[in-house]
Amino acid sequence: MKPNRSNLSVPGHVKKMHGKALNSAADVIMLDLEDSVPPDKKTMARETIIQSLLDMNWNKKTVAVRINALDTPFAYKDIIEIVEAAGNIIHRIVIPKINHPGDVHFVSRLLDGIEMDKGFNREIQIEASIETARGLEAVSRIAKASLRLKSLVFGVADYSESIGAKLTSISGHGDNEEKLYPGHRWHYPLSKMVMAAKANDLFAIDAPYGHFKDLEGLRRSAAMASAVGCDGKWVIHPDQIDVVNQIFTPSTEDIKRAKTVLDAIEAAGHKGKGAIGVDGKMIDQATLRLAKKLWDQASHMGLV
Ligand code: COA
Ligand code: MG
Repeated sequence: MKPNRSNLSVPGHVKKMHGKALNSAADVIMLDLEDSVPPDKKTMARETIIQSLLDMNWNKKTVAVRINALDTPFAYKDIIEIVEAAGNIIHRIVIPKINHPGDVHFVSRLLDGIEMDKGFNREIQIEASIETARGLEAVSRIAKASLRLKSLVFGVADYSESIGAKLTSISGHGDNEEKLYPGHRWHYPLSKMVMAAKANDLFAIDAPYGHFKDLEGLRRSAAMASAVGCDGKWVIHPDQIDVVNQIFTPSTEDIKRAKTVLDAIEAAGHKGKGAIGVDGKMIDQATLRLAKKLWDQASHMGLV
């Protein structure tokens, strides 16, 4: 499985950014037709995205296209035009503002038809953006809506608007949140989305951090997202990629700690013990599972 740590959003109408994105270290490149594109450039953005997809070699990347929300006049054309022209190149369609499993069914059915017509030999995946109160309320059902679903992504800006939260930052958690609420305000919705994703074997992806010059804030935000179970984070600027990749890659220290746990538990097992103490900390079978998961992830990334 390819990693899904950094997901770079790239405005669909800005051709020069497409090449820059392709040559970046982001795991996923998301060519955007929604909020980074002004309404009068939607048609041009579609054409530009199709051109970039056809003209450049995207083999090394996971490629996604974010369509407009389904309650706009743009979404149906986004799907049909992009997928008909370049559906064999893209891996994933990102659907904004999913409110209901029916939103996923609609896109999935449309993709069925285009794939049959064009004879594509691989199924396009769906990333569902959870960024409204209605979407969050229905998130467990949304996460089961289709086998095409690959990931859920939390959209903090639109979610804030949807619940009428105070506009204190555009950057999501990590940016001055402590002054407003102990812990962070987005813990509940983010964790609820993560739970629905993981119960259905999906990736859970965090919202982008808007203040792209504040790399320390980004680091804090990504670390919090990682701590609550996210697999990656959207980024909006190339400068954010390295920090996010780093946070979502097991560190040398993490790997060392996991190895200590694995070795200690193995030794304990030989002595017929379940739980043991190592350096004043309890280690048991649950700790073993956590360590094993991290070890597997590190192995998968070629780090051990
Ligand atoms: N993808 C690819 N390249 C990008 C990029 C992106 N998201 N954001 C910036 N770049 C490029 C710029 O084109 C510039 O390239 P150059 O050095 O070849 O000229 C370089 O990175 C440095 O950019 P910089 O000047 O620091 O930023 P900017 O002022 O041009 O752009 C933003 C700032 C926020 C407008 C821009 O990063 C952006 O549009 N981000 C994406 C927004 C988005 O997708 N929003 C919706 C999803 S939430
Ligand atoms: Mg949004």
